[in-house]
Amino acid sequence: MAFPQQRLRRTRRTAGLRGLVRETRLSPQDLVYPIFVTAGEDVRNPVASMPGIFQLSINHAVTEALRAHDLGIPAVLLFGIPDQKDEAATGAYDPEGIVQLATRAIKEAAPELLVVTDVCLCEYMSHGHCGVVEKETGEVLNDVSLELLARTAASQAEAGADIVAPSDMMDGRVAAIRSELDNEGFENTPIMAYAAKYASAFYGPFREAADSVPQFGDRRSYQMDPANAREALVEAGLDIEEGADIVMVKPALPYLDVLRRVRETTDLPLAAYNVSGEYAMVKAAAQNGWLDERRAVIEALTGIKRAGADIIITYHAPDAARWLST
Ligand code: PBG
Repeated sequence: MAFPQQRLRRTRRTAGLRGLVRETRLSPQDLVYPIFVTAGEDVRNPVASMPGIFQLSINHAVTEALRAHDLGIPAVLLFGIPDQKDEAATGAYDPEGIVQLATRAIKEAAPELLVVTDVCLCEYMSHGHCGVVEKETGEVLNDVSLELLARTAASQAEAGADIVAPSDMMDGRVAAIRSELDNEGFENTPIMAYAAKYASAFYGPFREAADSVPQFGDRRSYQMDPANAREALVEAGLDIEEGADIVMVKPALPYLDVLRRVRETTDLPLAAYNVSGEYAMVKAAAQNGWLDERRAVIEALTGIKRAGADIIITYHAPDAARWLST
């Protein structure tokens, strides 16, 4: 007599039964596609460390967003590369800034596609840090930065952003952004907070793509130590108290345990960011013929969902959406 477990194992050879007992279902609807929007006309700069990803001027960003939308992807996440940087990140909260303009253009072309905007200062700062830096000490000033982050979020909401996503990791930013959004009449704009954002080597390719390599020092004073998991629960708890509507863990694959633990402590929607370095690894191996890209991507994204993510932000989104529907 076979044990029931064995019976299932044997019949799982048929696709129908495999489908029936599958615990995790990945769908294009789970995905958010990051897009790098750059100033300039008709630009399509390939990002060398991220094959398939480009810095796109607004016209091309709209085309790319429409392509994602047609594939059933519900949201894009916009990062901006301004033509000018300074020490006050002026481009981040300029009503005519790159993300604000791109948001308007995408919302006009595809009103149902959700536009999520990155709220951070690093791409707009000449020194590449996520906050205001004190000249003498090189220290990142938390509270001064909050004001600029809040202004950035409000200007993005004004431009039509459906969700704002602060990725800077300054203390108190969710509360500061929430109160500014409310004051400006955007009470219904949700905040997706990067609750647990680790100081990770896997952001390397992003910094090339977003042109935000810190000119001195590193981000360890405001990003988390990869060795800490409980701290992520504290961070998530603070962001939730401050008014986050969605919390995020980032990166994804080296932190699936953190994702699971955050999942167990909140019933809010949970996002995971499958970051640039995770994308680059799969792409590089696939280009060498060392991995079956399609299988590796679906397996990784399924693993992220299995660990507890409701939302997966990934540069693989269009490919994955295509593969999932064929
Ligand atoms: C900026 C920001 C980073 C990422 C998202 N927002 C880089 C960083 O903190 O250095 C990384 C995303 C990726 O690697 O794909 N604060």
